[in-house]
Amino acid sequence: MSKIVASTDQSIALAAQQLRDGGVVAFPTETVYGLGGGTFQSTAIETIYRLKGRPFDNPLIAHVLDWPHAANLVSEQLPEFTRSLVLELTNCFWPGPLTLVLPKAATVPAQATAGLETIAVRAPADPIARRLLHAFGSPISAPSANRSGHVSPTTAEHVAADFPEDDLLILDGGACQVGIESTVLDLTTSPAKILRPGSVTADQLRPILGAIDTPLLYSQTSSPGTRSQHYSPRTPAFLISSAALVDRLRQSSQSVVVLAIHPHRISPPHNLIAMPNDATAYAQRIYSALRDADALNCSEILIEEPPRDAEEWSAIHDRLRRAVAKPH
Ligand code: TXA
Ligand code: MG
Repeated sequence: MSKIVASTDQSIALAAQQLRDGGVVAFPTETVYGLGGGTFQSTAIETIYRLKGRPFDNPLIAHVLDWPHAANLVSEQLPEFTRSLVLELTNCFWPGPLTLVLPKAATVPAQATAGLETIAVRAPADPIARRLLHAFGSPISAPSANRSGHVSPTTAEHVAADFPEDDLLILDGGACQVGIESTVLDLTTSPAKILRPGSVTADQLRPILGAIDTPLLYSQTSSPGTRSQHYSPRTPAFLISSAALVDRLRQSSQSVVVLAIHPHRISPPHNLIAMPNDATAYAQRIYSALRDADALNCSEILIEEPPRDAEEWSAIHDRLRRAVAKPH
């Protein structure tokens, strides 16, 4: 049975010991919960892929305390220009939800990067994640702590629900502050490329990077985890424009669940999950709302399309489009 424990000095020390012994633990970050193992521990990395059911070609993010610690994972032959960008980016955005993809050091096991010559690194801001990194004293590779393809976890209970039988130690940190995964920025290409949008937006990065490549959704191939179907509830889910929602509900003979920004339009027999009309608050809520919607066991989940008027909604549109994408 997986076990949720309060994050005390004692439980964090126990978690760090499990990592030293080659085990895996789940821990909170400011974005989503991670399923972590030592970057240099091959048994732990194997366990992460096995527990998640994650395709072996999807690489992991290594979590570190700061840039000096990340620098040990990155090739010494970093071009001077890239190095100066990294210093500016990490000064501005670390610790926080920005992941940098860089050429990897030869010492990093191929297994930790799915055989790629690059490595993704990020310094989480969450205090519990940082206490765990301090206690372990070495980088922690961690994907989101959900079964592969399922909705990402933003509470310890979400993690336990995805891994009920796995004897996993889950450090409790309550609900994640940001609520969606980090922005993944590839610095090995010129211009730099956003592989996965997140709460750090292209507008925020532009003053440092100048030009940025923001490839269209669905045409991304260089970050394997950005395949279109991802973050999916088990109930069939559909994204519906505000204008079409009322008609769509009228046509439904069975009761459905609606994630609605305009809640007054939803009435019985349909179920309402009210969503905030603010991108930051929407991001905090999105994954728990999808899990809550699933738990109602309705025939379908309808998601009222959020606004598109500001760049801060773009990561949310990305996650919603993937949540409603059909398996391929
Ligand atoms: O916020 C986050 O990033 C969370 C927390 C736990 O830190 N982690 C997370 O990990 O979302 P995961 O494994 O669910 O997503 C990692 C993403 C995937 O899309 C993966 O393909 C991409 O980062 N990635 C990792 N290493 C990469 C690399 N070397 N090159 C390109 N993409 C990479
Ligand atoms: Mg994930």
